[in-house]
Amino acid sequence: MDEQYDVVVMGTGLTECILSGLLSIEGKKVLHLDRNDYYGGESASLNLTQLYRQFRDGASPPAELGRDRDYNVDLIPKFMMANGELVKILTHTDVTRYLEFKQIAGSYVYRDGKIAKVPATEMEAVNSPLMGLLEKRRAKKFFEFVQTYKQDDPSTHEGMDAAVTSMDAVYKHFGLEPGTIDFIGHALALHLEDSYLSRPALETFERITLYMSSMARWGKSPYLYPRYGLSELPQGFARLSAIYGGTYMLDKKVDEIVYENGKVVGVRSGEEVAKCTQVICDPSYASEKTRKAHRVIRAICVLKGPIPNTEDVDSLQLIIPQNQVNRKNDIYIASVSSSHNVCEKNHQLAIVSTVIETDKPEEEIAPGLALLGPIADKFIQIADICEPVQDGKEDNVFISKSYDATSHFETVCDDVKDLYKRITGNDLVLKQRPTQEEEQQEMTKEN
Ligand SMILES: *[C@@H]1O[C@H](CO)[C@@H](O)[C@H](O)[C@H]1NC(C)=O
Repeated sequence: MDEQYDVVVMGTGLTECILSGLLSIEGKKVLHLDRNDYYGGESASLNLTQLYRQFRDGASPPAELGRDRDYNVDLIPKFMMANGELVKILTHTDVTRYLEFKQIAGSYVYRDGKIAKVPATEMEAVNSPLMGLLEKRRAKKFFEFVQTYKQDDPSTHEGMDAAVTSMDAVYKHFGLEPGTIDFIGHALALHLEDSYLSRPALETFERITLYMSSMARWGKSPYLYPRYGLSELPQGFARLSAIYGGTYMLDKKVDEIVYENGKVVGVRSGEEVAKCTQVICDPSYASEKTRKAHRVIRAICVLKGPIPNTEDVDSLQLIIPQNQVNRKNDIYIASVSSSHNVCEKNHQLAIVSTVIETDKPEEEIAPGLALLGPIADKFIQIADICEPVQDGKEDNVFISKSYDATSHFETVCDDVKDLYKRITGNDLVLKQRPTQEEEQQEMTKEN
C-alpha cells in the first residue's frame, strides 16, 4: 500500500466501485479500500452469520432459517430499472458478463385498503380493479398524451409546455381522480412524496416513460435483480477495475485522510500511507465533511412464505402511496426469494422502508409490516442519509451520497455522473467496450 496512486477509493458501495472501474479503464492507478471484509459497504448483501453479527451482537442464527450459504440478504432495497441508467452502464462496461439477472415478478400498489397489481399489459389494464370504467378512459387519454409528448414538437403539447406547466395542472386538464394521481405519481413515476405536483411536468413525464418502457421490455415488472444479491453489482465493477490494474484491499482499517496545504496527499492505515492526488469515498469515511439530509428506517424481514394477496409471486415491489396512509412519504416494500439465490427455499425476504417523519419510526412502517404475512425474524435499521457539504474540487476529496429511499438505482447513477464530472472535469461518456465474445475473437486472432 506504501505507493503513489492517482486515486484512493474508500468504501465498496456501488457508486465507489463504478467510479474505480471507470477510472481504471482510463489508465488511472487506483487503490480501493474497505474497512469491512465484504464488498458493498452500506449496501452489502450479508449471509446469516454476518447479519446476526451486525444486528444481534453475534448471536447464532436459528436453525429453522436453514443454511448460511443460501442467504444473501441486502441491507438496502433497490431494483434496477430494465431501461435505466445502471443497465446502460453495465452493458457499456460489459460488466454484465460477471452477472446474471432475474426479473422481479410483479409491481403492486396499495389503494383503498387493498393490494392491486400495477397493470403490465393492455389486457391487465382493461381488467384492473384500480380504476372505474370512466376513469380508465381519462387515464388512457393521459397516457397517450405523455407517450406522444415531445418537448421539441409543440404540436404534441395540447397547449401545455411541460417545461413550465406544473404536473398538477396536467392532471387537472385530464380530470383525473385523487387516487389515480396517487397511483401515477407514486407507483409509476416513483415520486416519494408530493412536492413534484407543483414542479414542471417534464420530469414526471420522463419518469413515467422510463417506467413504461422498462415494463414493456420484459413484460412482468420494470425491474431486474442480480442473482445472489445486490453485492454482486459492486463486485462486478471491482473485477473490471482489477482487469485494468486496480488494487482492492478488504478488511483494511482507514485511520486518516492526510492533507498538505488543504489538499489531500494520501490515506493512512496504521503505519502505512498510500500517497495519492485524489480520494473518492462514501460519507462514512469522511463524516466531518458531510451533513445529514434526513433519516430512513428499513425493516429487513425473513418471511415464512410469499406475501399474501399477491398471487404468491416470488418477488415484488409494493408501494404504499403516502396519501393512502396519511403520511408525507411513501412506504416501500421490496421482496426477493430463493429464485434469486438470496434465501432458503421455504422463506422469502422483504424489506419495508420509508423516510422517517416522527420520533416513533417503527410505528411508521407498521402499515407495511401488516401486509407481509407471518414473519420469522425482523431486523430494524435506522440510517442517516448523508451528503457532502462541498463538491471536493478544493481539497480533492470527492464524497458520494448515501443511498436514498428510492426503490431503484437512478439517483445512484446521477451521483456517479456528477462525481465523475467533478473528478475528471469531463462529462461521463460511455463508450461501448468489446464484449467477451469480441475480446476472445481478438485474442484468437493474435495467437
Ligand atoms: C458468512 O460470512 C462469514 C463472515 O464474513 C464467513 O466467515 C462465512 O464463510 C460466510 N459463510 C458462508 C457459508 O459463505
